[in-house]
Amino acid sequence: MSKKVKSWSNTEFKIGATTLEVIPGTSLREIAFAGRSNVGKSSLINSITGRNSLTRVSKTPGCTRQLNFFEIEDKIYLVDMPGYGYAKASKGDQLTWGKLIINYLSSRPLLRRVFVLVDSRVSFKQVDFDIMGVLDKCAVSYQVIFTKADKLTDKEIAQLQKSFDSIAKKHPALHPEFIVTSSVSKAGVDRIRYEIEQLI
Ligand code: GTP
Ligand code: MG
Repeated sequence: MSKKVKSWSNTEFKIGATTLEVIPGTSLREIAFAGRSNVGKSSLINSITGRNSLTRVSKTPGCTRQLNFFEIEDKIYLVDMPGYGYAKASKGDQLTWGKLIINYLSSRPLLRRVFVLVDSRVSFKQVDFDIMGVLDKCAVSYQVIFTKADKLTDKEIAQLQKSFDSIAKKHPALHPEFIVTSSVSKAGVDRIRYEIEQLI
């Protein structure tokens, strides 16, 4: 099976939403990128779209503070989300972002897939399980993407299968295959583009 997809020539930032009310209507399907703060969501969207600065990336956690909608080929929205679990954010910000994330994930009829990004060096944390629990409950299909694989040895990459297997059975809405990626080496980027093409 070839995982090659044709390049996307038309990628456009549409809206940055801090409340659900300003999110565009439901004419296009959506794919969301969720994950702990600093896990590499925005970097991966830049890699997938081939646009280095489509969405802002930073070493400092808490960089993305709204739901950013990017329209691909007039067909689908990729949604860059604020990170969760950033302990240094104020309680007020954590509450606001947490509510926005959960309300969005549980209320979009055309949300076709959520990519749950997990730092491959850190593996799963309780906040990841909390978000997965929300998605299981709402029956929203989600897939795990391990990020920053350039920082791992081949042996450590092979061990990701074990981490994944240890949680897979407990999560009914979890896609059975995970994807290993790096925004530095671009590993796994074509595979994600292929998954997105299947959902358009
Ligand atoms: P928030 O918006 O704060 O939730 O963060 P984010 O998940 O969007 O992460 P972002 O893409 O801003 O990346 C955070 C940091 O990780 C930046 O310093 C990136 O350069 C770095 N980074 C992202 N992806 C990779 C990767 O694949 N490999 C390596 N080595 N670093 C990465
Ligand atoms: Mg970000």
